[in-house]
Amino acid sequence: MDLFSQIEAPEREEIKRLREELEDANYRYYVLSQPTMTDRDFDEKMHRLQALEALYPDMFDPKSPTQHVGSDLAENRKTKEKSGKTFETVEHKYPMLSLGNTYSREEIEDWVRKLPQGVEIVCELKYDGLSISLWYEHGRLTKAVTRGDGQKGDNVIANIKTINSIPWKIEGADIPPFFELRGEVLLPWAQFERLNKEREEQEEPLFANPRNAASGTLKLQDSKEVARRGLEAYLYYMLGEDLPGKTHYGRLMAAKQWGFNISDAIKVCHSVDEVMAYIEYWDTERKKLPVATDGIVLKVNDLQQQAELGYTAKSPRWAIAYKFPAEKQLTLLKAITYQVGRTGIVTPVANLEPVQLSGTTVQRATLHNEDFIRSLDIRPGDRVWVEKGGEIIPKITGREERPISRPYADVKQLLDSAGYTFPTVCPECGTPLVRVEGEAAWRCPNEKDCPPQMKGKIEHFVSRKAMAIDGLGEETIDLLFEQGLLHSIADLYDLKPEEIARQERLGEKSAQNIMDSLEASKQVPWERVLFALGIRMVGETTAKKIARRFRSIDTLQWATAEQLCGIEDVGQQIADNIIAYFADMDNLQIVQRLRNAGLQMEATGEEPENISDILAGKSIVISGVFAQHSRDEYKAMIEAHGGKNTGSISKKTSFVLAGENMGPEKRNKAEALSIPMISEEEFLQMIQVPI
Ligand code: IVH
Repeated sequence: MDLFSQIEAPEREEIKRLREELEDANYRYYVLSQPTMTDRDFDEKMHRLQALEALYPDMFDPKSPTQHVGSDLAENRKTKEKSGKTFETVEHKYPMLSLGNTYSREEIEDWVRKLPQGVEIVCELKYDGLSISLWYEHGRLTKAVTRGDGQKGDNVIANIKTINSIPWKIEGADIPPFFELRGEVLLPWAQFERLNKEREEQEEPLFANPRNAASGTLKLQDSKEVARRGLEAYLYYMLGEDLPGKTHYGRLMAAKQWGFNISDAIKVCHSVDEVMAYIEYWDTERKKLPVATDGIVLKVNDLQQQAELGYTAKSPRWAIAYKFPAEKQLTLLKAITYQVGRTGIVTPVANLEPVQLSGTTVQRATLHNEDFIRSLDIRPGDRVWVEKGGEIIPKITGREERPISRPYADVKQLLDSAGYTFPTVCPECGTPLVRVEGEAAWRCPNEKDCPPQMKGKIEHFVSRKAMAIDGLGEETIDLLFEQGLLHSIADLYDLKPEEIARQERLGEKSAQNIMDSLEASKQVPWERVLFALGIRMVGETTAKKIARRFRSIDTLQWATAEQLCGIEDVGQQIADNIIAYFADMDNLQIVQRLRNAGLQMEATGEEPENISDILAGKSIVISGVFAQHSRDEYKAMIEAHGGKNTGSISKKTSFVLAGENMGPEKRNKAEALSIPMISEEEFLQMIQVPI
């Protein structure tokens, strides 16, 4: 691609950005089961990317998210690391594709109109769960394979066998020797709510929606727990050879006869009007169903016609999904209040006239930040749109035009609020708020004396990934804080069992549990203690990397910014935060008290000290193929010698460790920025490893 076409087409940049964003969203959705993008945003971005790729065919890339389905396989690698066990990976006999989709009823009408005359269309509900392929050999369920990356998935049969409606064995004269039945695994609303309630009580993170809960459940290694959670499945597609019938509907009815859970909502339609009436009907009726649905699927009924229409790389041309818009409601914004988080961020919260939304009553929703409120000019007294996307917390997405006449009370409220401004001082402690440049959020800088921040630090310290201290949930911390028994994390180790036992709702047993847990926390390794201190921007992984390089708090305390910046993932901002933390007398006192209490302030394990500091402060990009060692080994060597391995070449790159067949783009960039390229032999010499 030449320079001119790059300048001429900012769309090319957009293509790259969209690909990255969509890959990231796929990963968060399928692998982490923690979506950050709403389905609608995802679909809009995907459609935009498809349109742009069509405009720039030279940018075709088989790895683009438009060319493959999202994958949940990586999660297994994680599961394996954690438990030592994993699921069997199985190659799909027929790829597991996704469906083209639209939010537009007009597009659905067009799609139907373009089909051959007289075609029959099967309308079905689109279940919002995880797809599964059940393999039946001679009537026995032999495998249950997740979609994975569409080509291969995981055999989760032990977990699938916990679903009561899935037969392990079927009998009958017309049962083919091999067939696959595909469908959706779901966690019904009732089980989802029960599970989240339990998790809330145990202070575990909540699932954002039933789909995430089903996904988290299916990946568990403990089938007893899976059984307890109560998954369900609906089946909607039969595959195989020499199967009965000549239509999709006929096959589903055969499956129903054999005892499978096939939805009663399936209907064969013969015209656009019938299809649209089906969509209209289920748009409201679906809310009464026991499981989540997010749209309607239309499929050509005749299998011969299906074969003629064929497939694109990702989806069949003989089917399409209509997705329902996210549920939203108009309601009165009674007031805006402000919540101060653990890190001091002040979030505006909409207090609403309660409304029913996707089965729950909503009376509070996020307004994100000041810019958001200003851009929509939202004021108390307005009627606002509230929506529940994939996330737990509902959000405000817009407001109704203000009517000329309204009841007196509303008008008064509106006039009162006309001069709305974001607060200038912290609603909790009165400290003037600061707005960090480039950030939309206002923050209370009074880290040490602002109650929610003080409590937040303690909550973070005791959390599972930090010191894992049981028995100290949010409410208990609140209680002890209000009683003046807890101000900082160091106070935890001065707590007396009788003081705790004296509190309302706590007793001797809880007190003992907390004391035992505090005692056990003294064995928590240094890297987690560092994370638990709550130094701004030092997350779990960064703390690990810092603790590997600085093996005690004493060495870390005197670290220079340059040394810190030499650690992978540590930039100037984090280095500054660490230095500021140890420059503060109060923090040093807390650290001293924690040390006196017996916490691990240095590494004890076998992990080797850094071999040298030869590469300290160096930022190194690895590119190409190597003969002597693998890429991962080179990465480890860079870190062991105090260097930092980064992914892409920039002005800050110290040198490129260049193997064979280095990509032309990287080579050009390195040359343009005059960044030295060092061969693997030169590198090994540099760190004095014999070749
Ligand atoms: S048919 C080749 N029918 O939606 C077509 N899929 O976005 C196979 N889904 O991966 C899919 N309800 O997980 C089909 N009635 C239904 C469905 C359905 C939900 C899911 C399925 C698929 C995804 C596509």
